[in-house]
Amino acid sequence: MKCVDDFRLRFGKKELVPIVIGGMGVDISTAELALEAARLGGVGHISDAMVNTVADRRFNAKFVKDKLKQYKFNVANTDKSVVQFDLGQLAEATQMHVGRTMEAKRGDGLILVNCMEKLTMNAPRETLRVRMRAALDAGIDGITLAAGLHLGSFALIEDHPRFRDARLGIIVSSLRALQLFLRKTARTNRLPDYVVVEGPLAGGHLGFGMDWAEYDLATIVAEIRQFLLAEKLDIPLIPAGGVFTGSDAVACLEKGAAAVQVATRFTVARECGLPEDVQQQYFKASEDQIVVNQISPTGYPMRMLTNSPAIGDGIRPNCEAYGYLLDANGSCSYITSYNREVAAHPGVKRISVKDKTCLCTQMRNFDLWTCGHYTYRLKDTSRKLDDGSYQLLSAEHIFRDYQFSTDNKIALPE
Ligand SMILES: Cc1cc2nc3c(=O)[nH]c(=O)nc-3n(C[C@H](O)[C@H](O)[C@H](O)COP(=O)(O)O)c2cc1C
Repeated sequence: MKCVDDFRLRFGKKELVPIVIGGMGVDISTAELALEAARLGGVGHISDAMVNTVADRRFNAKFVKDKLKQYKFNVANTDKSVVQFDLGQLAEATQMHVGRTMEAKRGDGLILVNCMEKLTMNAPRETLRVRMRAALDAGIDGITLAAGLHLGSFALIEDHPRFRDARLGIIVSSLRALQLFLRKTARTNRLPDYVVVEGPLAGGHLGFGMDWAEYDLATIVAEIRQFLLAEKLDIPLIPAGGVFTGSDAVACLEKGAAAVQVATRFTVARECGLPEDVQQQYFKASEDQIVVNQISPTGYPMRMLTNSPAIGDGIRPNCEAYGYLLDANGSCSYITSYNREVAAHPGVKRISVKDKTCLCTQMRNFDLWTCGHYTYRLKDTSRKLDDGSYQLLSAEHIFRDYQFSTDNKIALPE
């Protein structure tokens, strides 16, 4: 019986354990988690979501405070178009986050950065260009383009000295999205080095509509594989979403996947950025507490726990400090919903906003508990302690369980 360790992910001459820990913003997939994946010979991701905040927290910097100071005058204004990111500061924060992570890297694996296009930051092209270039400058092994079609993203870095040697990949949820990407980037004469195919059971935002349950990862992967074969394109495919055991991963690898991308199992790792009380909520979640809804202002459906404090919360938009979801015109659908509720409930101190969430603030505070479909199985991956809580796991334990387990078994911690 085969295990994941019988396979290797090949990038040119480099051979890796074919386990990729997916990016989880905002700093849920921490540097510590990514560093463990790399040390163990696999691939880890950090995320550049809300990088100014992340750099503040990691390095005691003051990027958020400085931005808030500059735009404080606008806090009560519903028009947020003046609230712009300082591109120099954005580059500095990214270089700190990425650079310090890469300095700490040990072992033969890779560390990539998850870069979401939907973080439009009131200047989509300019901020994305700075984020990607700063990450390359700071020595990241590669960039995974996420949450968006990224039709212009290669062009934003094609003149960067590392454009051809860094590993560049994209996450897609359909053959159509991949075809569009390939067509629009053909001019740069560079193929992606890998394609993550994310199915409907993943955590975070989904690349599907509310009919997500009608799709199935294996079918999408097979479709994309056939297309690549027909086009004679040799691009490693990395399925993601619902790969919960080593045997699930082996099933993907036997069908020709180059590796698997996993995340949910690592949300209960000690190295994960979620606070421990939130990790206990993930352990305890039951199947009926895991829902896909439309409260994210990105417009994508998102999977989360129903007891997330963010759901229904009516906090005042905090775009002067954050503002990562502001579109090119300085709008965010949460602001619209918030203003509607304020107008409908004059004099009420704490309003509730049900249809949208202030994603920046809620993710920053770990109050929006996004999760994969199989989160309700996490309790089977650990031991219940006498006080009713579950034992946190080491990232190494989870990684090695994926790498060596057979028969759909999950090794419990010592
Ligand atoms: C808590 C959490 C946060 C996530 N955040 C992001 C993100 O910021 N960007 C992204 O591209 N994918 C994100 N994902 C998706 C993962 O990177 C990954 O592709 C997917 O969850 C894999 O499926 P699994 O969780 O069933 O293993 C997130 C997943 C989880 C569980």
